[in-house]
Parts: sequence; C-alpha cells; structure tokens
Amino acid sequence: MNAPEDWPEPIIRVQALSESGIPAIPNRYIKRESDRPISDDVADDVNIPLIDFSGLIDNGKDNQDLVSETMNKISEACREWGFFQIVNHGVKPELMDRAREVWREFFHLPTEVKQSYANSPKTYEGYGSRLGVEKGAVLDWSDYYFLHYLPPHLKDHNKWPAQPHSSREVNEEYLGEVVKLGGRLMKIFSINLGLEEDQLQDAFGGNGEDIGVCLRVNFYPKCPQPDLTLGLSSHSDPGGMTLLLPDPHVAGLQVRRDGKWVTVKPAPHAFIVNIGDQIQVLSNAIYKSVEHRVIVNPNAERVSLACFYNPRGDQLIGPVKDLIGEEACPLYQPMTFDEYRLFIRLRGPSGKSQVESLKSPR
Ligand code: OGA
Ligand code: NI
Repeated sequence: MNAPEDWPEPIIRVQALSESGIPAIPNRYIKRESDRPISDDVADDVNIPLIDFSGLIDNGKDNQDLVSETMNKISEACREWGFFQIVNHGVKPELMDRAREVWREFFHLPTEVKQSYANSPKTYEGYGSRLGVEKGAVLDWSDYYFLHYLPPHLKDHNKWPAQPHSSREVNEEYLGEVVKLGGRLMKIFSINLGLEEDQLQDAFGGNGEDIGVCLRVNFYPKCPQPDLTLGLSSHSDPGGMTLLLPDPHVAGLQVRRDGKWVTVKPAPHAFIVNIGDQIQVLSNAIYKSVEHRVIVNPNAERVSLACFYNPRGDQLIGPVKDLIGEEACPLYQPMTFDEYRLFIRLRGPSGKSQVESLKSPR
C-alpha cells in the first residue's frame, strides 16, 4: 500500500471560497445530518481539566507536596479525560503569540505565494486543504500547513514558508521549546504509569532527536453555514501526544465525553495537551486517545498550531510489557507508526476506527 502522488480531485482552498462571499457552502462540505454540530449534543457547563505546571518547573525550591499534587492531577486527567490544558509550562507567552501570528500572516499572504507550497498526499508537507484521498469524500472547512521538525533528516527548511520573513526563525524557536515541554510530559506520563522515567520515551524509539515531531497549522476560515459542516471531522490523533496552541479569540475545539461534546475554553497562554493513539496502544489503553472535532464560525476565522509528538516512524509500537499485567492480555497488535499513519493519510479523519482496528483478535 502506498500513498498516491496526487489528489483525486482539483484542490479548492477553503479560505478562497470563504473570501469569495458565497452565501451557501458547496455540497462537498455538507456533512451527514448525524455528523453536524447540534447544540443539543454540547455540554457547555464543563471544561477540560486545567493544570498549573509551575510546581514542576525547576525554580530552586523544593516543594515535594506540590510536585506530587501536580503529578496526580496530570495522572487523573490522562485517565479520565485524555485531554487537559496546562499553564505556567515554561514556554514564553510572547513566543506563543509570535508563532501564532506569523502563521496567521502566512494564511493572509497572496494566493500565489501560498500555492508555491502546495502539498501532495505523498508526504502531506506544505499547504493543504484536505486529509484523505477518497474521491468524492465530504471535506472539512479548513486549510492547513504541515511540516516536519524531527527527526533531523526529515526537516527541510525549504518546505517551510519563507514568508513572513521571521517565520522560519520563529518556528525553530517555538518548536524547540514545545519539544522540550513534550519531553517533560513524557517523563511525567511514564512515572505516572508506574514505569521508569525514560521508559515511555525509549518505547518511542529513543531519546534526543530520534523521535518524530511535526507541526500542523490549522486555518479555519469564516463559514456562512457553520451548522452544516465541521472545521475538522471527529478523529483521535494518530501519534503519541499533541500539544495544541489554540486561538485565544475564537473557540472551536470540542472533545467527546460521555456522549456529549465539551467545548474547550482555553485559558490565556495555555497549551492543550492530548493523548494520541500511540500512547493508548503503549499503555494498553490505561490512557485513551479521545475523539475531538472542530466547529466553525460565521464571523471569525480561527488559527491553531498542533504540534504532534510522535514515535520514530520505524519503531514497532505495541503495549509495554510492564503495563499488560499478569492476568490482562495485550489489547493491541504491534505496528510501526509509519504504517499506521499511512491508513490515516489515505482515509482522512474517521473517529476512533483506526486504533480500534488494531485490537488483538480474541
Ligand atoms: C488536530 C486538531 C484542533 C484544533 O489538528 O489534530 O485536533 O483546535 N486540531 O484545531
Ligand atoms: Ni486532533
């Protein structure tokens, strides 16, 4: 199985459609009735857990109580929600704002400039407007930009936007910081799961730069009929964990919980962290990757930066032996992340069907 060289149909930029001022969205963005965002299904009085990370940042003070309290909160959020937001995480607020705003500027550059980075389903790197290659598929109301940061041999600055002029530099600095934070979270997850500090990272294929890190910047243009479509269809993230920088002005991310959709209300300068399919598999489903989706808005565009912290592509990922337990059995069959991701790249977002398909026969 291979990804095709090109898209099955001509690509239409959602932003261009939106800016053309059409009063109704084309049919190919209209979701089945059961997939449309209905307010009855939304739980608006709850939010995902908010965790203050300051106790875990080395500030020279020894405060073991605060450390264990914070670790426990993270443990509970991973088990109960698969999603949480963190504040006081050590990444500078100004850097977060700069990163988001260079991307907003990118999406407002002239079409010809953006087109020079147009992507293909082969690697997905560059400027794109669809996930999946099924002909005639119903599409999401968003454009995006996808790039690799790690491992070093996949990073190619020529595939990163050169404009705005500070963009590459800002992205380097931003991703460097987010990767450090991701590494810290990996240690926390590992300890919380009862493993050695580095065991989870080792299961990802090694320390340092031997993992996969990529950035997908999502751009959700204004939508004249937000009730009929989605900015991003329901999915769980295929990788290890995701660190998302949301738009501070416009909500849109919804997380599935007890049959309802919880709209995330981001705290100022928070990162939204969620467990991906690979950590669900490694933890033998002690931690679960949770379905989420994005709704769109008639009056406001939305920009978000999703940094995917993934295993090495060629690493076989199956349940960690220490987590299978004596009576329990491994729930999943091992697969490399490269192989796993190929399914997603061909089929596009499809709830949790992918990770479910790894279930061991019994
Ligand atoms: C994603 C994602 C959410 C958002 O990129 O996988 O879920 O708020 N993004 O854009
Ligand atoms: Ni996602």
